[in-house]
Amino acid sequence: MDGRIPLARPSWTEGMRDAAMTALDSGQWVKGPHGRAFAQEFAEFCNVSHAAPCNSGSGALIAALRLLNIGIGDEVIVPSLTFIATATSVSMVGAIPVFADVDVDYWCLDIEDVRKRITEKTKAVIGVHLFGQTYDPALIELCEKNRIGLIEDAAQAHGTSVIVDGERRMAGSLGDIACFSFFPSKNMAVGGEGGMITTNDETIGERMRSIINHGRDGTLQSQEVGTNMRMSEVFAAIGRKQLEHLEQWLEIRRNTAEQYASAVKYNQLITPPSTFPDSEHGWHQYCVKVKDSAHFIDYMSEKNIDARVFYSTPCHQHPVYATHPQHNETLSVTESICTQIVAVPIHHGLTNEERFRVASALKDYA
Ligand SMILES: Cc1ncc(COP(=O)(O)O)c(C=O)c1O
Repeated sequence: MDGRIPLARPSWTEGMRDAAMTALDSGQWVKGPHGRAFAQEFAEFCNVSHAAPCNSGSGALIAALRLLNIGIGDEVIVPSLTFIATATSVSMVGAIPVFADVDVDYWCLDIEDVRKRITEKTKAVIGVHLFGQTYDPALIELCEKNRIGLIEDAAQAHGTSVIVDGERRMAGSLGDIACFSFFPSKNMAVGGEGGMITTNDETIGERMRSIINHGRDGTLQSQEVGTNMRMSEVFAAIGRKQLEHLEQWLEIRRNTAEQYASAVKYNQLITPPSTFPDSEHGWHQYCVKVKDSAHFIDYMSEKNIDARVFYSTPCHQHPVYATHPQHNETLSVTESICTQIVAVPIHHGLTNEERFRVASALKDYA
């Protein structure tokens, strides 16, 4: 039998190993030149003025909420079809996540549902670029009109972009603050846990570097409540090397997505993912929609290919939200699709033979 094809496979090169060793040998393990350079290079990649490397995507979300001065009693609208950290970061700062439904085609926030859920307590929306698909940029205007913040959860969207008012804008520049994750399965990683916060706002940019460093200023006085959310120099050095490969890796993911789309074209049992008009998908996951996900996963497993439902439990139905007022509310689109969306391997480390095996399995699914 051919080898198992996993959903993710971390990339590791000699260049990354050398970068890690050089950072270790330097003896400067924190607060050094790699962190500063990684911030600058990632900001350039996203076409924003400020970036700050931090300890995780979850840490980035908590920092972003604090940077928008969100706290006890405030409401923040989030999709329920996402990784739980999008919602729990809101709870972690004492605010209330308000769960909204997603769009039936693109699986990101449904703008009309968000509009209905805005109250005088709403301070912000966290939009998620789910699986690497950008959210509808109409969210930007909606938040501006209602004078509420927009936080981008770009944990899955390194390299995603969309055209807004005739201009191509990268994930990381589609809200007031954006949060990336470098968890090992993401489009790029750092050799451990890591995250990045980005913004085009000068004031937030200054505060962001401080809030992840105990709220300190240049004189080591703490100006606001912060904590240690810094990234180590070794991780920043690895991240810089990974960033050098990102464009090429995205190209591989996009070609693979095209190959899978052609494979499922005539298979009535599989609905391929849709791409939002004028957007470039980052293809963190390639998720197909099938009626019987357990049957599909078993079928792929027999072919020695990993496949997995994302996210079988909508956030508002997790036990952590058992006492949340929306725990028993029906979010109809989310609930009808959440058990039907299954990810198949699309990572940039796939060999041609592995890509062909996944494509053939999709084509032949019956
Ligand atoms: C949509 C989303 N938000 C937030 C996170 C949290 O990122 P991290 O695992 O780096 O804390 C993730 C990571 O899986 C994610 O996929």
